[in-house]
Amino acid sequence: MQACWQATPNIAVIKYWGKRDDRLNLPTNSSISVTMDDSLKTVTTVRFGKDLLEDRLILNGKEANPEELGRAVRVLDAVRKAAKIKYKAEVISENNFPTAAGIASSASGFAALACAAADAAGLDATTKQLSIFARLGSGSAARSVIGGFVEWKAGKKKDGSDSYAVQIAPASHWPSLRNIVAIVNPEKKEIGSAKAMQITAKTSPLYPARLKMLPKAAEMMKDAIRRKDLEKFLELTMRESSNLHAVMLDSFPPIIYLNDISRRIMRQVHEFNLQKGKICAGYTFDAGPNAHIYTEEKYQKEIEAIISEIPGVLKTIVCRPGDGPKKLS
Ligand code: DP6
Repeated sequence: MQACWQATPNIAVIKYWGKRDDRLNLPTNSSISVTMDDSLKTVTTVRFGKDLLEDRLILNGKEANPEELGRAVRVLDAVRKAAKIKYKAEVISENNFPTAAGIASSASGFAALACAAADAAGLDATTKQLSIFARLGSGSAARSVIGGFVEWKAGKKKDGSDSYAVQIAPASHWPSLRNIVAIVNPEKKEIGSAKAMQITAKTSPLYPARLKMLPKAAEMMKDAIRRKDLEKFLELTMRESSNLHAVMLDSFPPIIYLNDISRRIMRQVHEFNLQKGKICAGYTFDAGPNAHIYTEEKYQKEIEAIISEIPGVLKTIVCRPGDGPKKLS
């Protein structure tokens, strides 16, 4: 009863921010993302065993803290219930990128856990089931069980049975798309996204306006993806990122993830687009100062050069759209 799977991060272009159920990670709005290739990845092995007395999680060679273990147990419990087994599990999970670099690892981590646990339990799970299992660990992980362009439908049901991800288009639909990740020197320790989105939902007067506008933005985004309309895709992506960070700042106390380096990157991207006379690159930021710059292969080298020169940019990593989780032997 053992299986090993890899999964990769996804970077949202319509973001998940706010929950209608904190325990089940049910979102207030639907979100859209691109699953990345394995330039960044998590590899997770799960073993269920009669001999195990407790669930155990080893993350990058170290025993996980109780919070991380708790999230993993929610996923394991859901898998055990579906497979009708009672065995405890041993989970070993490794990222090929330093967690300290501040790249969200929870999406790839819990997607890999969901796939490996379901497989180890002998469950012939559908992607819908896997998406629901992954969501219980971390909301954004619901999208990483699927490759390419993905929508996580918020759903309406209380039990979350209609809150899972579906594919909009496979990675092969737009293989020339790139995501240049710019790792930025963080200034101070940030507040975790689970807590931060709670504060926004409770205190931001602008947040209801965001929720009202999102369904239309999501429809336009899906349309831009289907038509591979780069300019529209990038404009919508940048506008959405700024809207998200606007409601964060509008929260009380304010939530601030962007720093001077992030803002410098934003300016440089607009400058680049101005020089080209059209929108060729577009940034998006999650709950941290690192930038994700979407562009096409033909502009990749130029963007990388410009961004790498910015003081405080520690490293750039180029990702392509990826095919989603993969079983390893
Ligand atoms: C800004 O998925 O990390 O990256 O469900 O509490 O684990 P939890 O939150 P998480 O939040 C991700 C927020 C985001 C936007 C996104 O990926 O859609």
